[in-house]
Amino acid sequence: MNRWTANVVVVLTFSLPLTANLGLSDERVTKSGDSINVPTATEQRRLQLPDPPFRYADSDNDTDNGAAALPQHVRAVAQAFDNTPPENPITDAGATLGRVLFYDKSLSVNGTVSCASCHQQDKAFTDGQPTSPGFDGRRGKRNSMSLINLRYYRPGRMFWDERASSLEDQVLRPIEDPIEMGHQLSVLINQIQQDPIYPPLFDAAFGETTVTKDRIAQALAQFVRSIVSFASPYDEGRAAVASIYDDFPNFTEQQNLGKQMFLTRGGCAICHLAPDEFLHRSPRSGQATLISDTAAQTSASAELLTDLAPDDVIADRQSAFFFVEGPTVNGIDGDPAASDPGVGQVSGLEQDRGAFKVSSLRNIEVTGPYMHDGRFTTIDRVLEHYNWSVRPHPNLDPRLQEAVKGIALPEKEKVALAEFLKTLTDRSVLTDVRFSDPFVRWNPAKAAAAGGFRFCRNDLGRTGHVLS
Ligand code: HEC
Ligand code: HEC
Repeated sequence: MNRWTANVVVVLTFSLPLTANLGLSDERVTKSGDSINVPTATEQRRLQLPDPPFRYADSDNDTDNGAAALPQHVRAVAQAFDNTPPENPITDAGATLGRVLFYDKSLSVNGTVSCASCHQQDKAFTDGQPTSPGFDGRRGKRNSMSLINLRYYRPGRMFWDERASSLEDQVLRPIEDPIEMGHQLSVLINQIQQDPIYPPLFDAAFGETTVTKDRIAQALAQFVRSIVSFASPYDEGRAAVASIYDDFPNFTEQQNLGKQMFLTRGGCAICHLAPDEFLHRSPRSGQATLISDTAAQTSASAELLTDLAPDDVIADRQSAFFFVEGPTVNGIDGDPAASDPGVGQVSGLEQDRGAFKVSSLRNIEVTGPYMHDGRFTTIDRVLEHYNWSVRPHPNLDPRLQEAVKGIALPEKEKVALAEFLKTLTDRSVLTDVRFSDPFVRWNPAKAAAAGGFRFCRNDLGRTGHVLS
């Protein structure tokens, strides 16, 4: 028995108490060519969590939803946009449980897919594919969405067609989706209750070891809501000037030109950086909005923009979130009958047909391919759409009516606009350990490249291995 095989045996012995028997196994071949069976569940069941837990909750000293920790341009508007419900504030233990659930493949019926399979941290929690393969390899019809800053999507509704009324409502749906994870919640609740890793985590989060559907939803929602990102080159530049319209000192000339195009001639900000003034006028309470508000909002903002001189709009524009406030039609499809009805299918309203929610443009550089069906592979393709091929559509957003023939930015301005969009990438959130996989994975190829395993005692007091 060589050193390699011996190590493998030690791992299995030490991890037995943590093994939930899901009857899954995976054949592995060791360096010496011996083949061994390692239960996938064993690999899954080994956690590495810090004690005390990572910080996810807002600081106790903050009076307004953790805003003290945010840059000024975000702080000013954070509270008004925050969709955290009073009954489910983020706690460190709750988000920690949510993190474990998020990365746990046993939430899918055959143990092959976790939330993180389609929401990968290094891709701003998307998966790099037009549509995502679920537990048995079949694909849905929509593109995976970024999960960053969802806390600040003020309407609170989730999915491209906004069919979920809140994050708490959204997070359970992939589990029972017949293409995504294919599980049954009634069965899953029992399975989690029997799984030795979970009772202590539920106890820490909710003061009881009992697993319920609502607690799973609350913990997952807390974790997702804790994923916020305001440390991009854009934020650094925005913090250094009084107005978003000023040139940013840390930007190149090209990036500043691109920012100008985004805010003015390109018309992007009108939708993707909703003016605060528009929000004050919208009939919302800060809670989730009804889908039927969408049409009213859209025409209200179009009216607003014709009413107001650009300077008035400028004065009230928030410069933090890069969300479009509610679903709309951006002219990628011409024929409503032949394309995905989006919100229209959910609301049954003709005026919602073809309307889609959009993720924040933050981190857009790493969330491709783009649009609800992932049809555009690059940012340049997206810009080509707005530049030349906005299609007439009965529900085309009035803010784009004039652009039906395209906004026709010259090449230099178009390239600059793409460069500006890349300044919205926050590298730190893509690697922040608080949002990373807490399971200690065994990757034989990586281990071999690193010359084998070293052993560690993780923070649950259990011995596991980490890759060198
Ligand atoms: C098989 C791939 C897949 C899995 C697994 C998956 N998702 Fe998703 N997720 C998607 C896709 C695709 C969408 C967009 C679907 C749509 O709009 O119809 C989405 C949308 C979302 C959204 C909405 C974001 C927004 O801005 O509206 C959230 C939140 C989310 N997923 C969280 C999760 C969580 C939590 C899990 C695990 C319980 C999970 N997802 C599992 C692919 C997946
Ligand atoms: C009328 C409002 C509106 C305007 C103006 C607008 N967009 Fe969009 N944008 C949308 C909508 C709605 C979508 C999602 C459409 C879909 O997927 O069906 C979208 C999608 C996108 C996406 C893809 C997002 C993703 O996660 O896949 C990018 C990038 C984008 N827009 C950039 C821009 C840029 C750059 C401009 C200015 C040239 C601009 N948009 C102008 C409404 C708008």
